[in-house]
Amino acid sequence: MAGTMQPVYERILMDAAQIAAVVDSLAERIDRSYAACEPLLALVVLEGARRFADDLLSRMQHPVEPVFISTSSYHGGTHSAGIVKIVIPPALGKAIGGRHILLIDDIYDTGLTLSSLAEQIKQFAPASLKTCVLLEKKTPHKKPLRVDFLGFTVEDTFVVGYGLDYRNQYRDLPFIAALRKDLTTG
Ligand code: IMP
Ligand code: MG
Repeated sequence: MAGTMQPVYERILMDAAQIAAVVDSLAERIDRSYAACEPLLALVVLEGARRFADDLLSRMQHPVEPVFISTSSYHGGTHSAGIVKIVIPPALGKAIGGRHILLIDDIYDTGLTLSSLAEQIKQFAPASLKTCVLLEKKTPHKKPLRVDFLGFTVEDTFVVGYGLDYRNQYRDLPFIAALRKDLTTG
């Protein structure tokens, strides 16, 4: 209806200032934990973590080489299909050997994405592997894992904004918000 622009979100969970403060403190913590180490290889899970990783890496002092990898387990819905379509290609595997790896993702939900990636990374014998996640959902994780650097914990609801999408929409919102339930089809 013309003139009645209803927001796509129910409520804002984290505004831009809160996100910036958390990203700053994550960058500091990560810098401190790698002080004496060689340059990091950051594996960034696309698309959702791109914006977070761009902000995080630009705030870090420690030298980082970013590599972007693609995965999708949602297939356009709001519940994880439990299918993690990601295989680390051999060339990237070779680059992982002997390096300090920081795995960066947007959300730890079921844990399937991160645990699958972590298992694959370990097979390429990195010097170390740590994980950094912007949001952990309060949900029973199917594959529990340790998150070394965590931004926020959120309730078990579908969230959008700050790089997070629903069907490739709403990534541009400068804050993180709970998506309106009537916009999702399950
Ligand atoms: P997993 O269920 O922990 O494997 O998470 C899979 C991926 O689903 C995450 O990396 C996100 O990209 C995406 N995802 C999970 N929950 C949400 C959400 O609430 N909004 C947008 N994307 C989500
Ligand atoms: Mg993702």
